[in-house]
Amino acid sequence: MSRPHFLTNASFPRTRMRRTRQTEWSRRMVRENHLSVDDLVWPVFVLEGENRRAPVASMPEVERYSVDLLVDAVGEAYELGIPAVELFPYTDPALKTSCAKEAYNKDNLVCRATRAIKDKYPDMGVITDIALDPYNSDGHDGLVVDGVVLNDETIEVLCKQAINQAEAGCDIVAPSDMMDGRMGAIRDALDAAGYQNVQTMSYAAKYASAFYGPFRDAVGSSTALGQGDKKTYQMDPANTDEALREVSLDVAEGADMFMIKPGMPYLDIVHRIKESFGAPVAVYHVSGEYSMLKAAVQNGWLDNDRAVLESLMCFKRAGADIIFTYCAVEAAKLLQQ
Ligand code: PBG
Repeated sequence: MSRPHFLTNASFPRTRMRRTRQTEWSRRMVRENHLSVDDLVWPVFVLEGENRRAPVASMPEVERYSVDLLVDAVGEAYELGIPAVELFPYTDPALKTSCAKEAYNKDNLVCRATRAIKDKYPDMGVITDIALDPYNSDGHDGLVVDGVVLNDETIEVLCKQAINQAEAGCDIVAPSDMMDGRMGAIRDALDAAGYQNVQTMSYAAKYASAFYGPFRDAVGSSTALGQGDKKTYQMDPANTDEALREVSLDVAEGADMFMIKPGMPYLDIVHRIKESFGAPVAVYHVSGEYSMLKAAVQNGWLDNDRAVLESLMCFKRAGADIIFTYCAVEAAKLLQQ
């Protein structure tokens, strides 16, 4: 990396960087990045039943809602101006099979939640995750035969899942499974079924991360996965160039937007992808990052409001256009103050 030519102290005392930092109005005036409610997507967990809510033990303040209560919660987000939510189901373990067929059941939890939200809040963006882990008896994102996560066979199921979610009325399908070639196959399948206007957001650079642990508790996939890991399909945290290759493939396969995940430990990836492609970039402030922050807050070690807003601002500075965060609702409220 080249050094900026002005790295010299010869300009002192004429140049004093602290001058513009003295007052709030001046800091506001020279601020380079701005966080707004328009940047936020709220990931939510949905469970069976009526008038039910269940806390997620490993995610302070996060609750899973039954469809009726979810609609109310989404309504609050809508009123705050949050553009979209992403839905994740806590599937009844009895419905999990090795062929993950619940993924394309027209009346599965995600489809019912999508219809209910769209019915009441048609202008709220609904994003649905594409991957088999909530439906798979072994907790993997793809079909498993003899311990191997199959690629091409999985894609067929993912295409059915995408069409099923589009039929229910979702606006964006977001494949998080990391199978090769799935973005193009899903695009073609949606188009053939008449869903040319359903957007696709690829979780293009998704790393095999330890920071997804609390999420797996929330959707109930951790028990099934057990000691297993997802290293044969999710990326190695040591790699950067590989993330660019992943995105360029998904660009070629017609994806509209690209996700990097996790978020804060991967800001270099966010930056490189934004610089290289100039396409809409999303970042996922994942469950483990959220829980670390909240655990520190609960211990009185961090100031919640400042830590939340600073975390989200850092995503903007790195180049993200869209931020998926469990803090979306509280951040939207803080931004109104
Ligand atoms: C699964 C999926 C995961 C997340 C979103 N979709 C977990 C995983 O890959 O095991 C993680 C989100 C989070 O940690 O907040 N397809």
